[in-house]
Amino acid sequence: MCGIIGYIGFRDAKEILVDSLKRLEYRGYDSAGIAIIDKKQQLFKDIGEIDEIKKNLPDFKGTIGIGHTRWATHGGVTKENAHPHLSSNKKIAVVHNGIIENFTKLRDNLKKKGYKFLSQTDTEVIAQLIEDNYTGNLEKAVFSALKKVEGYYAIVVTCTDEPDKIVGARKDSPLVIGVGDNENYLASDVTAFLKYTNRVVYLNDGELCIISNKEIRIFDEKNIPIERKENLIKWDLKDAEKSGFPHFMLKEIYDQPETVHHVIRGRISEIYRTIEFNEKVENLLKNGINSINIIACGTSYYAGLIGKYLVEKLTGIPVNVELSSEYRYFGTRNESSLVIAVTQSGETLDTLAALKEAKNSGCKTLVVTNVVGSTATRISDAYILTQSGPEIGVAATKTFTSQILVLFLLALKISIIKNKIGADELYKYILQLKELPRNVRQILNQSKKISGIASKLKNANSVFFIGRGLNYPLSLEGALKLKEISYIHAEGFAAGELKHGPFALLTKTTPVVVIVTKDSTYAKMIANIGEVKARGPQVIAIAEDSDTEIDKHADFVLPFPSNSGLLSCVPITVILQLLAYHVANLRECSIDKPRNLAKSVTVE
Ligand code: M6R
Repeated sequence: MCGIIGYIGFRDAKEILVDSLKRLEYRGYDSAGIAIIDKKQQLFKDIGEIDEIKKNLPDFKGTIGIGHTRWATHGGVTKENAHPHLSSNKKIAVVHNGIIENFTKLRDNLKKKGYKFLSQTDTEVIAQLIEDNYTGNLEKAVFSALKKVEGYYAIVVTCTDEPDKIVGARKDSPLVIGVGDNENYLASDVTAFLKYTNRVVYLNDGELCIISNKEIRIFDEKNIPIERKENLIKWDLKDAEKSGFPHFMLKEIYDQPETVHHVIRGRISEIYRTIEFNEKVENLLKNGINSINIIACGTSYYAGLIGKYLVEKLTGIPVNVELSSEYRYFGTRNESSLVIAVTQSGETLDTLAALKEAKNSGCKTLVVTNVVGSTATRISDAYILTQSGPEIGVAATKTFTSQILVLFLLALKISIIKNKIGADELYKYILQLKELPRNVRQILNQSKKISGIASKLKNANSVFFIGRGLNYPLSLEGALKLKEISYIHAEGFAAGELKHGPFALLTKTTPVVVIVTKDSTYAKMIANIGEVKARGPQVIAIAEDSDTEIDKHADFVLPFPSNSGLLSCVPITVILQLLAYHVANLRECSIDKPRNLAKSVTVE
């Protein structure tokens, strides 16, 4: 769960590495470091965030170097454990993302050979192993060292004896090459070098690459050279910057009218009244699906729960939603089931492991992700991109609403294939989809009002979120968003469940956010509000703007447009996101980088 960058070219490597690490900070931010070759390895690393570390950085000169921003897995947060790590002879420098499972055994063997270790990390073992295998050719040494390693990794390596090359390798952790003119990059994410180039070459699992300022060479796991085409990334650099907003999270919330537009673009046809995906996805869906398993973690899991509701309602096909971390060990795998992995990053380790389990059991696999070229897209039968642009804030916002919309489009597509939907009904949904950016904008215009209500929550010890049907997973997501960025304890419940236990926790100081839609559960929700209020808490209702009764029951009301139908989950989500954001902002929390969390969880 770390950020990696390597640069070789003609520019000042220090400047490029620091700038790229700043852009990668969301992958981990407990410590960072760089190693630049100027005859010897010039190493600087420390604990803290890049801006702090930068202040003490010596004036290293050089045009080749590697850098790393860390989120600790093996070994505590110390300067010694920060990357890069050097081999004993100080010639080889390594940055690494992943976990080497047999590192204790490897370290013991290396110690017996006289290698000295300065850190508790598994990465230092890789540096020493490379030195141990070095006979004058870095790529050969890396290749031999990795044969002894069990686990997963993305590594970037330099050696002072060969200052004209950087070697990279990956297995189950992301690594991508940025292609420049007389310069090249290696990084865990495209955003690291997007300022300098949008030309990329993806590496597959098990591959090793050698980059110089003029050349890129790639080898497969059998050491056979491979030709790989360049891809062009369409993301704009400004997409990866804050554009004047105080936080990435707020910018990304405000991106949503546009991202909603992007996710449906090219996929709905008002004229032909149809839904279209790429050929691989279409073939997968035409295969005759009898059941679906959705696997995901965190916010993506809640998108999956919403997807279950949508797919079952529109197609009648049963959908089982499982946490990837559970599915990979205990999930029921049925060959005739389509397994859909929902993962913003496409790199969440538990989801990748669950996906592999599904594949090995003969299931067809489909991935919904935001990151083109991510590992998930490479190991699945087909994938659908959410097309949200880079999401930098640790809290998932725009990618969540895009995931919901992809699942909605999938539900519509399957219902068309299965003849479960008439042309008029489909047209109604197409119109609702087209109306959605406007509905989201209406919510954004209420930001000030939502901030006012946030001030009522900011001193709460605990906040409950309740809803029924689609509004139940939304309650779970509302609670997750609040707890992860404001550090207030929050829980989401199915409204009918409160009386089965959680009621015991309700006091005057436990505000309850109630999501109410004017469907068959409306009367029950009004009754639930009454039950809650009888125990003292203040009630904040998120309700349809056409609901003229709700004022009588709730203390505060946040309206959303009535015309969104099934898709009301999108504007409701935006209210929940803004509520969490404003509470966290009033509490002066570290919104984009909440404590103990990182954007993409590539550990178990
Ligand atoms: O990249 P993924 O969608 O697979 O990530 C899964 C979770 O780690 C993620 O959704 C997490 O819960 C969110 N960052 C919370 O806002």
